[in-house]
Amino acid sequence: MSEANLKDLNDLDVFVEGVPHDTFTYWREHDPVHWTEEPGGRGYWSLFDYESVTTANRDAATFSSEEGGTLIRDLEPEALEMNRMIMLNMDPPKHTRYRLLITKGFSPRHIRALEQGIDAQATKIVDNVIERGECDFVTDLAAELPLQVIADIMGVPQEDRHMLFEWSNRMIGSEDPEYMEENGAAGPESAQIELFAYASALAQDRLANPRDDVISAIVHAEIDGDRLTEMEVNVFFLLLAVAGNETTRNLTAHGMQALFDFPGQRALLQADLENRLNPAIEEMLRWGVPVLNFRRTVMKDVVLGGKNIPAGDKVALWYMSANRDEKVFANPFDFDIARTPNDHVTFGGRGPHFCLGANLARTELRAIFREILTRMPDMMPTAPQSRLRSNFINGIKHMPVKFTPGKRSDA
Ligand code: HEM
Repeated sequence: MSEANLKDLNDLDVFVEGVPHDTFTYWREHDPVHWTEEPGGRGYWSLFDYESVTTANRDAATFSSEEGGTLIRDLEPEALEMNRMIMLNMDPPKHTRYRLLITKGFSPRHIRALEQGIDAQATKIVDNVIERGECDFVTDLAAELPLQVIADIMGVPQEDRHMLFEWSNRMIGSEDPEYMEENGAAGPESAQIELFAYASALAQDRLANPRDDVISAIVHAEIDGDRLTEMEVNVFFLLLAVAGNETTRNLTAHGMQALFDFPGQRALLQADLENRLNPAIEEMLRWGVPVLNFRRTVMKDVVLGGKNIPAGDKVALWYMSANRDEKVFANPFDFDIARTPNDHVTFGGRGPHFCLGANLARTELRAIFREILTRMPDMMPTAPQSRLRSNFINGIKHMPVKFTPGKRSDA
């Protein structure tokens, strides 16, 4: 590959075609910490290799999430101010205080307690399509479980849950024509306004009638002796609704696509599901990478990958590229369900922001793949998948599949 054929990572249409792995591979080899021009912006350093991504992820004092937020694109001051109320866009020690408010809801003990319910929900999701013999893998199978689970944890009543799905799609898909068209005028801003209004009403209710859910924990919590403001509660709700939904949905779809593309690995997995499912899910995580990048802003002059990066510059941590780093993963383009070690950075490269929902996501992935691979063992794609127009979320919007029809579990 020559430099002239490389893809422009700012061009969202590139990502509709697929992940530009050839470009990532080229830069990992030739310039792993690479200055990247940005149309209409001031440019940024792309971190393509495992070492620089994990270094930046772990050193929150030098690589700030708060200074400029975590999106590559610079935000207007007002939008940045609101973004910084979300703990994803805070630095320690403030970040630590907010994160502690909700860690209990995601502890291994708490997740274990949810496991049976998650398994039962996965069974129901497959029940709903199994007699049809065909479906859209994304909307019918992958999307439903993350939505139901996060709604349970947050305390959103059953009848309101479909709204969470719609708001989350409208916010993440704001640059994809399919969602823009479906929404008409009702784009990302109005989705956010609706979600905030809903979160405020739920918070009011839980203030008066506390329950064992995350919203109750948030509204009754204090930081430095003060309750959270209405806006702080709203953005907490926003973070949980979006972070837990899109990511797990897309990983499920990427995982299934990998099994389609590597039938030998799929056969191995289906032959011994109970023993091979956990390592297979880790490999799906290394492979799929729903969040392609997060941004940091450099707080003091630093040398990274041999480059002098001055304070104030921004860096983009390309998680997908780090997961294919030849220096860390042998034959990184082989999907290998027995890969070990498999220290991927799909949930972040350690550090204070390491995905709070990692254990929950793994539990959901186990539940849905166990159901699908046991009850729809011959599933095959019937048309190419369609991809989200985004260089931030590695999204699959639709993935038509067929399988031999089966019986509902309650039939
Ligand atoms: C396969 C699924 C998932 C992937 C790939 C994923 C990925 C990530 C990544 C890359 C980060 C940032 C890490 C960093 O900057 O170091 C993150 C943070 C976060 N994730 Fe996930 N996530 C997933 C599922 C979930 C789920 C199910 C939840 C549940 C609500 C969740 C909640 C969060 C939260 C709250 C944060 C912010 C943590 C903080 O700022 O301290 N995620 N996730």
